[in-house]
Amino acid sequence: MRETDIKKGLAGVVVDTTAVSKVNPESNSLLYRGYPVQELAATQPFEAVAYLLWHGELPTAAQLAELRAEERKHRALAGNVRAAIDLLPLDAHPMDEVRTAVSVIGASDVSGSGSVLDASGSPEENLLRSIRLYAALPAIVAYGQRRRRALDAVEPRDDLDYSANFLWMTFGEEADEVVVDAFNRSMILYAEHSFNASTFTARVITSTLSDLYSAVVGAIGALKGPLHGGANEAVLHIMTEIGSANNVESWLDNALAEKRKIMGFGHRVYKRGDSRVPTMKAALDSLIAHYDRPDVAELYEKLESEFVARKGIYPNLDYPSGPAYNLIGFDTLTFTPLFIASRVTGWTAHIMEQAASNALIRPLSAYNGVDERHVPGL
Ligand code: COA
Repeated sequence: MRETDIKKGLAGVVVDTTAVSKVNPESNSLLYRGYPVQELAATQPFEAVAYLLWHGELPTAAQLAELRAEERKHRALAGNVRAAIDLLPLDAHPMDEVRTAVSVIGASDVSGSGSVLDASGSPEENLLRSIRLYAALPAIVAYGQRRRRALDAVEPRDDLDYSANFLWMTFGEEADEVVVDAFNRSMILYAEHSFNASTFTARVITSTLSDLYSAVVGAIGALKGPLHGGANEAVLHIMTEIGSANNVESWLDNALAEKRKIMGFGHRVYKRGDSRVPTMKAALDSLIAHYDRPDVAELYEKLESEFVARKGIYPNLDYPSGPAYNLIGFDTLTFTPLFIASRVTGWTAHIMEQAASNALIRPLSAYNGVDERHVPGL
């Protein structure tokens, strides 16, 4: 095989079919089960989108109520999960913290057929596990931020829906509607994106007939990297480094001279703009108005226009979501764990799809090491 035949990074390679979402780089569109993501973000609660990803249809009022009731049952931070998190150093990476928490939840779930011999579980069991994991993650993420701020965990509130309760458990106060709405939109926009690196990781692990929790743990590992989920954190670091709109040009001169990657820009699939950006930018604008922070808008616009003019590379979702999460009050270290809380819905939808029509994922490689040789003296 010639090296030129190798699709490094699997770029451009179609490895399977999926009915979960469709990314169309030509039209800059992203469909979840056929629905444009911006329509879902404008009209739906995150719970309804989670249901859509798992079941293929938006829920009826009764189905939504049922999912919400189940989600509420599993919101509280479990004692063994908290104990495991508390064993970790305070400066452990928050992604490692959440990954550990999911491992504990998985290892503690000895129900059904999730045994060593039949790790994969039935579709019904996997759906229940998906809902419970999705329900448990906000308390884990919220506790992580509170722990780093030397604050105790906040008990969930049954009278609040998913997004409002997530903010409540993080900050210990009820968030304004505009903040809940922006946060809900971000959760929807991050939920699913076809065969991205973490979802593909989850599918590879599922393809070995491993269990759903192991697949999610692996996906979290893939999401941690700055070329994937870690970019939203990196955007905030960049914005903090730049300081204000006036510094953008000189900062960019230096960064480009040093051949730095500008986080929050560029995408493997979208080359002419990320379909999710306009919706998240509108949510960011509502937060900028709410918190009266025109300086954030100025820096955002200036960096975007300068970078696009110089490189022709457009922002991805992490560019508006980084400053949005910062305005809401999340620590920069909490941003990628927020991505987990959202993307767990897409991951688990893919895990169930992979399990339903499985083929072991095992590509080939072209050997380029030394030729065959023999141990001396033989
Ligand atoms: N800053 C500076 N240059 C960038 C860039 C960025 N954010 N994104 C791409 N480029 C440049 C590359 O350096 C490369 O230039 P070259 O041809 O002179 O070497 C060219 O554009 C093609 O980029 P490449 O890295 O090959 O594209 P890709 O499809 O492999 O990468 C990303 C896509 C997302 C990994 C890449 O755009 C990136 O690293 N972005 C920053 C991280 C980020 O925001 N990730 C979140 C993704 S949702």
